[in-house]
Amino acid sequence: MITVEKIIEPNKNGRTHPFTVLCNDGLEYVIKMKNDFTNTHKVEFNELIAYRLAKLMNLSIPTAKIVCLSQSIIDSDANLSGIQAVSGPCFASELRRGTTALTRDLFNAAKNLNEIPSMFLFDEIILNDDRWSNWGNLFYDVNSSRILLIDHSDIFINGQIWTSYELNSYQCLPPTTVSLDGRNYEIAKDYVKGPAPFESIGKVINSLSDNQINNLFKDIPIEWQKNEEDVSTEDIIECKKFVLFQLRNYPSILNEIHKYFPSWKGGK
Ligand SMILES: Nc1ncnc2c1ncn2[C@@H]1O[C@H](COP(=O)(O)OP(=O)(O)OP(=O)(O)O)[C@@H](O)[C@H]1O
Ligand SMILES: [Mg+2]
Repeated sequence: MITVEKIIEPNKNGRTHPFTVLCNDGLEYVIKMKNDFTNTHKVEFNELIAYRLAKLMNLSIPTAKIVCLSQSIIDSDANLSGIQAVSGPCFASELRRGTTALTRDLFNAAKNLNEIPSMFLFDEIILNDDRWSNWGNLFYDVNSSRILLIDHSDIFINGQIWTSYELNSYQCLPPTTVSLDGRNYEIAKDYVKGPAPFESIGKVINSLSDNQINNLFKDIPIEWQKNEEDVSTEDIIECKKFVLFQLRNYPSILNEIHKYFPSWKGGK
């Protein structure tokens, strides 16, 4: 497993207290680990499942890995030891150069505006209400001129404290959705337009096999599953069922969110 070699700095923003680090593969990453502000390993679990699902849906997202943070590195850094960072496998997102302050000009400069409808649907599938209302969790990557998804700590409505009971209760129709409003939404909604903006992502989702969806939940670090308050076996089983339910019922989700997109003309 790739290991953290050096702490560069604590990130300026982030309720989960992420850190920018250098790893022994020579790359810089933003890492998230269990600490006094996250309390459970659900943050890393949420990030990993969302990352894998984004890749399956062909969405732009910084490459992510699981990397190992050793106790000796934590002990050598007062910021990390000060928040009781937990050693072991953590979630690492490759550091990109760019900004989360997404103006209309930056949106217009992006090469992947065709992904915007899929990004909205992705967030409804994982019940993420932490991207469109404010700046911070949609990233303009300067090198590729693409808009990237970042930050999936707060998915499944309750983020780091969701329960299997809650995920079970969301598996009904009409589906549970998160509302859309705010700064990023006001700009991005204009790119959901024409008679069938979700047609291509629909084809991608329809082509996913149960096996591909089940594989999202393979190789979850055992360290994240040790305690009931982290990620329990029941949590993983229910999360798998929930994600499958959402993907199989995406047309019903689209019915529910049609009202947010005035430029989406015609039928649902
Ligand atoms: N891969 C990345 N490349 C560059 N910058 C990043 C990357 N990941 C995160 N950041 C920066 O770090 C900030 C905090 O990261 P992130 O939003 O993932 O943390 P968080 O603790 O979940 O935040 P929040 O307060 O929104 O819940 C981001 O707003 C962004 O500026
Ligand atoms: Mg964030």
